[in-house]
Amino acid sequence: MKTIRTVADLRETLAPARRAGSSIGLVPTMGFFHEGHLALIDAARDACDVLVVSLFVNPSQFGPSEDLDAYPRDERRDADLAERHGVDVLFAPPVDEVYPDGFSTTVAVHGLTEVLDGHPARRGQGHFDGVTTVVTKLFNMVQPDRAWFGQKDAQQALVIRRLVRDLDIPVAIEVLPTVREADGLAMSSRNVYLSPDERERALGLSRALEAAEQEVAAGRLDARDVLAAARRELDARGVEPEYLELRSASDLSPAARVDGRTLLAVAARVGRARLIDNTVLGGTE
Ligand code: PAJ
Repeated sequence: MKTIRTVADLRETLAPARRAGSSIGLVPTMGFFHEGHLALIDAARDACDVLVVSLFVNPSQFGPSEDLDAYPRDERRDADLAERHGVDVLFAPPVDEVYPDGFSTTVAVHGLTEVLDGHPARRGQGHFDGVTTVVTKLFNMVQPDRAWFGQKDAQQALVIRRLVRDLDIPVAIEVLPTVREADGLAMSSRNVYLSPDERERALGLSRALEAAEQEVAAGRLDARDVLAAARRELDARGVEPEYLELRSASDLSPAARVDGRTLLAVAARVGRARLIDNTVLGGTE
């Protein structure tokens, strides 16, 4: 495995593979790998000839009051895991390689980014502008045939699908299911912030989603019933959600009942960690 820091070196390294007609896969990450990242890497490894994983804690997607400086980092460990999982290129550029002096372009996807995490009272649309700008850059730098994302960040995955469609970026987007701990907690780099007590309370999120799934399985499809069932699990652990919302899984429009593929998304702060989770109710995934 080669660790690469510059776009020029990346292009030079990938050029022979591209000329030879090899397929190039990309898994964009902010590092501090867990099983969720590794599931994307393993799937990508199986599906393409040359696998690039990017490791870049993207400052532009963090708000001023967010955890950019504290965000967990361990490049040595990530490089070791990447190598063991068959990654060919770890692209880990410094900030000024991605955002050189005078950088002044933003790629914004409207609409989808104004709700849930993008709501002005939460992370705000600026968060997604940071994501879409850096992902567009990564697509241009690597020019992958396929790129892998996680359903854990359901809104991000939808936004990226829209970005690629709207800008005719020639990359196929693959979205893989959320990888969870044995007790249901969605894997996240931010779980390291949780104390043992908070770790227990954090289970409220996945338990809330499970309760909603049971409600739907029992034929209660009205949003009020589904949300109340979920809410009870959060309340039981003293978790106050930033949002708990039922929306269309294809365009994030509000859903008054589970009808077709419906996304139940939750975000909550537990101690220092801001956690998100979701499930798709109704219809087949
Ligand atoms: P990061 O949080 O490191 O996540 C990298 C990828 O792993 C994303 O596609 C995310 O959805 C996926 N992922 C995270 N936790 C997962 C889990 N438990 N199960 C399955 N997949 C999971 O998301 C980002 O980085 C950034 O926003 C990025 C796209 C790299 C742009 O900076």
